[in-house]
Amino acid sequence: MRLGRSNMTNDLLVQKVKTWLYKTGELAKKLEKSQLQITTKSSRNDVVTNVDKEVQRFLVAKIESEFPEDKILAEEDEKSSLVDMSGRVWLIDPIDGTLNFVFQRENFAIMIGVYEDGIGKLGFIYDVMRSELYWGGAGLGVFCNENKLESPKNSGAKDGLWGINVGMYVQNVGNIQAVGENAMGVRMIGSAGLEFISMLKGNTIGYISNLYPWDYAPGVVLIKEFGFKASGLDGLALTFNGQQYFIAATTQAYNEIMKMC
Ligand code: IPD
Ligand code: CA
Ligand code: CA
Repeated sequence: MRLGRSNMTNDLLVQKVKTWLYKTGELAKKLEKSQLQITTKSSRNDVVTNVDKEVQRFLVAKIESEFPEDKILAEEDEKSSLVDMSGRVWLIDPIDGTLNFVFQRENFAIMIGVYEDGIGKLGFIYDVMRSELYWGGAGLGVFCNENKLESPKNSGAKDGLWGINVGMYVQNVGNIQAVGENAMGVRMIGSAGLEFISMLKGNTIGYISNLYPWDYAPGVVLIKEFGFKASGLDGLALTFNGQQYFIAATTQAYNEIMKMC
């Protein structure tokens, strides 16, 4: 992996990102205790809080000062339009599951993906309220805090639970109700990051949703390390450009679903 101006080793970079994430977790917990400032974006249930913005500002400032030549694609504050994926790109979702954050004060994550020339290198998903940082990358393995995780079983599409986006399920986009009917059941968490964690733990076999690059970039690095497949619901490569229908699953389940839908 590219080391950057300071000739930083991969290990050092990972340590740095983990430190930043622990700090943003503390920041989110502190700010969450006072009155949240909530504003709407595209619709009444598309919201952003002062915490999303503060967390993003903190992470962007760190990356810009340490790695000024790198690119950043992040959800808030006009950082959300396409940067081409050449060179090293940091994809940031400052609070993934903002509605959960506002209404539940849990079940949200702070996420970072690091890509080089479009190839996923590192992924970080920090489940702040459970103090669980899932991280890892290509050739590194996948960890929860300091514990290395075992790869889950390569289950078939009918042999367990699926995470599926509520709106897509109700509208039966791409005939995905058939995926749910074929499976043991369907779960809907409200945070893409926690859906990826669920796959890493072997709690779900796959996940179908309508996602932006910052929603899927960190998790895709981690699940691919465990041999899962991920793509657009049409089977084409992820675009890293705007919102798209997304599917990820164990290899066996992915291949079965692609024949079914
Ligand atoms: C959302 C969550 C949700 C998913 C949406 C995302 P946000 O992220 O991950 O689970 O269904 O598509 O936009 O807006 O809370 O960061
Ligand atoms: Ca977000
Ligand atoms: Ca998100």
